[in-house]
Amino acid sequence: MAKKLLVIANWKMYVQSQEAAKAYVAGLKRKLKTIGGVEVWLAPSFSILPLLKGIKVGAQAVSAHADGAHTGEVSSAMLKAAGASFVIIGHSERRAVSDTNEAVHEQLVRAAEAGLVPVLCVGEQERTQDGSHWNFIEEQLASALRGAQSLAGKLVVAYEPVWAIGKSAQDAMQAEELQETVIFIRKTLAELLGRTDALKVRILYGGSVEGDNAQKLLVEGGVGGFLVGHASATLDDFVAILKQCKK
Ligand code: 13P
Repeated sequence: MAKKLLVIANWKMYVQSQEAAKAYVAGLKRKLKTIGGVEVWLAPSFSILPLLKGIKVGAQAVSAHADGAHTGEVSSAMLKAAGASFVIIGHSERRAVSDTNEAVHEQLVRAAEAGLVPVLCVGEQERTQDGSHWNFIEEQLASALRGAQSLAGKLVVAYEPVWAIGKSAQDAMQAEELQETVIFIRKTLAELLGRTDALKVRILYGGSVEGDNAQKLLVEGGVGGFLVGHASATLDDFVAILKQCKK
């Protein structure tokens, strides 16, 4: 099981200027000197990623292709060369515009080839009465991880229910519901990767995590950390979450 809590800032397209990004990172590094027990990674946009030093950075997306005629795409090798250590794969905002389960699988393979840690996002559109959201999550995991057993030691899974993204802390997932889902994901990972490897996978939660709900989600939800969107765009809001990261 993962030791330290992991919190990843997914800046999406919120932080746009290079100056703002650099100032944020400088401030964050100062704050981290007094906040212990939590590992912090940052996912800026492609144009900003190579400029950020002294903090673990990763990309928000990667091409399913290794090279060639793919206008607008960025390969895993290019990301690695630009300084990325990890990449977010299968985010619902990417699945909504282009990424199929098959593409997500290919991206995962490309990430592994380049030595990038994949942060695989899964999550249902909505909770259903008949429980079909469980099948949905299971299918996303199974198709992405097909034949990728060797990744287990490095893999991070971010559970992000689409219905809980971009709201406020009150409207996010409740801790009890989260705990049940984390157990389900761990069980599914055990079936796919084997029990020992499944225990090595960090399972994060994303979807309206803010300073107000972070601690409850962590303690009662049983996650190993967070993937934070809007509340990571402003340093003070992000630090408020990091301060709550005590189990
Ligand atoms: P919010 O924190 O804005 O809900 O976004 C979550 C998310 O999509 C992180 O990847």
